[in-house]
Amino acid sequence: MTPGEGQWPAHCRAFVVDKTAGGVLCAIRAHPLPPAGDGDLLIRVAFSALNYKDALVVRGARGIACAYPHVPGIDAAGVVVASRGRADWVGQRVLVTGFGFGVDRPGGFADYAVVPQDWVIPIPASLSTLDSMIFGTAGLTAGLCAQALIDGGVQAGDAVLVTGATGAVGSQTVAILAAQGLRVTAASRKAATAYLQGIGAHEVCLPDSLATPAGKALVRARWRGAVDTVGGKAIEDILKQIHEDGVFALCGMAGGTHFSTSVFPFILRGVRLAGIDSVRVPIARRHALWQKLAGPWRPAHLADLATIVPLSEVPTMAERLLSGTQIGRVVVRMEAAPAPGAAL
Ligand SMILES: NC(=O)c1ccc[n+]([C@@H]2O[C@H](COP(=O)([O-])OP(=O)(O)OC[C@H]3O[C@@H](n4cnc5c(N)ncnc54)[C@H](OP(=O)(O)O)[C@@H]3O)[C@@H](O)[C@H]2O)c1
Repeated sequence: MTPGEGQWPAHCRAFVVDKTAGGVLCAIRAHPLPPAGDGDLLIRVAFSALNYKDALVVRGARGIACAYPHVPGIDAAGVVVASRGRADWVGQRVLVTGFGFGVDRPGGFADYAVVPQDWVIPIPASLSTLDSMIFGTAGLTAGLCAQALIDGGVQAGDAVLVTGATGAVGSQTVAILAAQGLRVTAASRKAATAYLQGIGAHEVCLPDSLATPAGKALVRARWRGAVDTVGGKAIEDILKQIHEDGVFALCGMAGGTHFSTSVFPFILRGVRLAGIDSVRVPIARRHALWQKLAGPWRPAHLADLATIVPLSEVPTMAERLLSGTQIGRVVVRMEAAPAPGAAL
């Protein structure tokens, strides 16, 4: 369906996840768009992306989507084709990530999306629409992690650690920190040394090599800063290895949601934990981070950080993501989506 300028369609063509007695059902079909409210924009979506959270929704996980049937996709980029708010947004290339997009309302796995204008960022001129989705939530999260380290005093030449380094957030964090002149050690379970060195890692290690003796509260300090995208027990080990006044940014949970620690990294080394939440970042801070991603922080080979797939490949890619076998980011292309009703 192609609305004329200023028209609002009642439905979009979307990748819809439904829960039935027989299990989770995914199909590309018509889905109602939310009624347009004051300040809403209608975006013709060109690209979305498959985030870890979206993969969980595709599998029918509880506690993320507000209700099923649901259109996942917490990221989208495209062109504003109609506006119930600022008329000057029409024709603009824009992106949206987080807030309630793809969670409390239909998301980016659709040809059209209705989004409050307060959630939207104009795509910086130096980025293509595709570039903006190679970054998306992963780039914003990586940017928040990098900023937390820099605000904590980490400088060029310092040794830092990034875990889950082949993941979407991990890859972009490695690339951004390396571009700032930090000596990045990339921890990954995969045999992906060439990829990780290609995106800027100074060294590559296995997560097992970070293990510490259970009885030791602290071990030799190795990292001025660290970013953990995995979660779980590794956090306890890494905390023991952070330098005096170092910073440790936590953003992920693919490998676990709980850890235990002693107080000693905090009271003997002054280590600071930085929690990262990309969903509720205020819009002014987003603008500032997107300017950095589009400029000084932009990885040299941004396109190498992503695989681009059509909507029909979302279920396969979701399983790859959840099994931890995917390398880099998964961008979802809308134009080549199969016709409504196509089998997945
Ligand atoms: N806080 C926030 O605002 C925010 C924003 C975005 C994402 N996240 C979270 O950050 C994490 C990473 O997101 P992402 O988009 O980068 O996901 P991703 O592309 O799936 O990457 C996750 C990586 O974690 C590693 N990993 C270790 N143990 C794993 C396990 N048991 N299962 C799966 N992966 C495992 C893998 O890297 P290696 O094989 O290289 O070790 C994997 O590639 C997720 O937990 C996601 O929910 C948080």
